[in-house]
Amino acid sequence: MGVQIPVVRPRRLRTTPAVRRLVAETRLHPAELILPLFVREGVTAPVPINAMPGVVQHTRDTLRKAAVEAAEAGVGGLMLFGVPAVQDAVGSEGTNPDGILQQAIRDVVAEVGDQVVIMSDLCLDEYTDHGHCGVLAADGSVDNDATLERYAEMAVVQADAGVHMVGPSGMMDGQIAVVREALDGSGHQDVSVLAYTAKYASAFYGPFREAVGSSLKGDRKSYQQDPANARESLRELELDLAEGADLVMVKPAMSYLDVLWQVAEVSPVPVAAYQVSGEYSMVEAAAANGWIDRERAIMETLTSIRRAGANQVLTYWAVEAARMLRD
Ligand code: PBG
Repeated sequence: MGVQIPVVRPRRLRTTPAVRRLVAETRLHPAELILPLFVREGVTAPVPINAMPGVVQHTRDTLRKAAVEAAEAGVGGLMLFGVPAVQDAVGSEGTNPDGILQQAIRDVVAEVGDQVVIMSDLCLDEYTDHGHCGVLAADGSVDNDATLERYAEMAVVQADAGVHMVGPSGMMDGQIAVVREALDGSGHQDVSVLAYTAKYASAFYGPFREAVGSSLKGDRKSYQQDPANARESLRELELDLAEGADLVMVKPAMSYLDVLWQVAEVSPVPVAAYQVSGEYSMVEAAAANGWIDRERAIMETLTSIRRAGANQVLTYWAVEAARMLRD
């Protein structure tokens, strides 16, 4: 049997760099990248995070420098996480107007607030001694409604410090409504809410626990979503939109591109995706072993996340990727 000569040849559009560039459907731009940054109270030098080579817990001083560097690279946003010196049962430092996150917000807003969007994590796990994202009921379970009261207070102190956008990440029911009401009630109508809408109970947050010094024993499965489920993400989306979310997010990114796609198909507001600590560490570890091409892997993961429908991507490679995109 003779070989059938193909009439249709998809390879034509792959032949030269010029034609590949012409037909590329997905493009990355530094402005849609958001850099997560950690700032630790009471340290005089940045503290490396073992499980995340290249990422550190900043001092207030080095945080300002990192913020300037990110702004110069053209990154669109910074997501700040505070690492307090003291943790307690209710996460008191999270609502201390002079707590580390609030100080960092003031510093960074003053430094680059006119160039990039300054965002802050609104959650209790960095601040509680038990490591959960909320306060505990007498039986040890996470008390949804008592936690909402804490989130409302956190929203106000973060907004008072000057943050542009808060990121409630605790997956408590009703959190977006409570945060929106607290912001509006304190004269912060212009502070936006980036809702962690579909947030899964994921093994890929492992390195982050070290990054924020979380002392969590057990897991977050009673509030974060089951990786087996996609439908409930659409329900969470409906709720977050009804409660006033300005942006919605899917997290982690790479193992949840199907969820991201479904959310992006129907969301009337921008959809962000968080390429989390474990996604970063996997690539770094493989690259350190010489098993994959690091830069190609970085760009491929970011491109896939955009292709699946993300408008913004939170990534620990934001500055490096922004520079690669410019060169
Ligand atoms: C909760 C929060 C977490 C991350 C971001 N916000 C941890 C968790 O929910 O367990 C993880 C981010 C990452 O892994 O990079 N404050």
